Amino acid sequence: MSKVTFRIFRFDPANDPTPRYQEYEMPLEPGITLLNCLNKIKAEKDATLTYRMSCGSAICGSCAVRANGHAILSCKTQASELVKDGVIQLDPLGNTSVIRDLAVDLEPFWASIRKVKPWLMPDATDNPEKERLQSQEDYLKIDHATTCIMCGACWSDCNVLEVDKKFIGPAALAKAQRFIYDTRDVKTIDRLEEISEPHGVWDCTHCGECSTRCPTDARPLGRIEEIKQAAMAEGVHGNSGARHVLAFRETVGKRGLLDENYVPVRSVGFLNIPGLLGLMPVGLRMLWRGKNPPVIPHSVDKVEEVKKIYSRSEEFRK
Ligand code: SF4
Ligand code: SF4
Ligand code: FES
Repeated sequence: MSKVTFRIFRFDPANDPTPRYQEYEMPLEPGITLLNCLNKIKAEKDATLTYRMSCGSAICGSCAVRANGHAILSCKTQASELVKDGVIQLDPLGNTSVIRDLAVDLEPFWASIRKVKPWLMPDATDNPEKERLQSQEDYLKIDHATTCIMCGACWSDCNVLEVDKKFIGPAALAKAQRFIYDTRDVKTIDRLEEISEPHGVWDCTHCGECSTRCPTDARPLGRIEEIKQAAMAEGVHGNSGARHVLAFRETVGKRGLLDENYVPVRSVGFLNIPGLLGLMPVGLRMLWRGKNPPVIPHSVDKVEEVKKIYSRSEEFRK
C-alpha cells in the first residue's frame, strides 16, 4: 500500500490560535473513504484533530470539507481519487468562519435556509383528515430539490458568496424551488417576490460550481433556473433581474442583437433615477475607452431569420 500525506488545516483559537497545516502520513487501504482516513488519523495519530461526521452514509450532510480546494462529502469520496502528487490537502468549507480545524460555523448557512420559509404553506381552509396527497407527476417537479442533505458544499464553493455575504446562496435557492413548485403550496407568488429581492435568485451568476460540488441530485443551478422560469411565467417582473430578461427578449426579438444602450436602462427601470445615475460611471468608462455601442441601433444582417427563430422559440415557450 502506497503512503499518502494528509495535509490538514489546523486552528484551535483556545490553545493554538495561529492557523497552520499539519501533515500525517498513512498508507491508503483499497476502498477507504476520506472520512475513514480522518477517523484513522484521529484514532491512531492525533486525537485532537477536529471535524464533523455522523451517519457515514451520505445522509446527514455533516462531513463536508474542502479537499484540494473544492468541497466534497468526505464519507462519499474515495480517498484514492483525491491524491495529487502523493498529497491530499484538506481545508474547512469556504465562505464560513472556522470554529476549530475542519469544523466551521454554519449559522449563516442555516439563516439563509430559514429566510425562504422552508415549510409547506397550504390553503388554510383545506383541512384533510390525513396527509396532503400529491400525484407522482407533481412530485417529480420537486424531486431533485428534496434530495438536498444540507451539507453546505454548494455554499462553500459559491463564487457570489465570496464577494457578497448577503447573497441567499445555492442551498436556500434549491429549498425555495422545492416549495415554489410544490402544487400543495399557495404562497408561490409571495415566495417568488421575496426571492427576487436584491441578493436573491437574480444575483446568481450561473457559474455552475454549486451543481458541480453537490453530492446529491439537488444540483442547485438547475433549481435556480426553474425559479427564474416560474418568476417570468407568473409575472413577477418588478425587479432588475426579470427586467433584464425582458430587455434581452425585446432587443433580440426586434433587431437580432443586444442593444447595449437599451438593456441596462430597461433593467434598472426607466423611472429609477438613482439606479440610472449609478450606471453613469460604467457608461463614461465605456465612452472613454471607445467601447460604447452606436447611439442609433442597427439590426443584424438577415434579421428576418433571427425573428423567425425568436418567434418559434416564443411559441415553444408558451
Ligand atoms: S451557479 Fe449561482 S448559486 Fe451556484 S455557485 Fe454559481 S453563483 Fe453560486
Ligand atoms: S444543494 Fe447539494 S451541496 Fe447544497 S447543501 Fe444541498 S446537498 Fe449539499
Ligand atoms: S457523515 Fe453523514 S453525510 Fe457524511
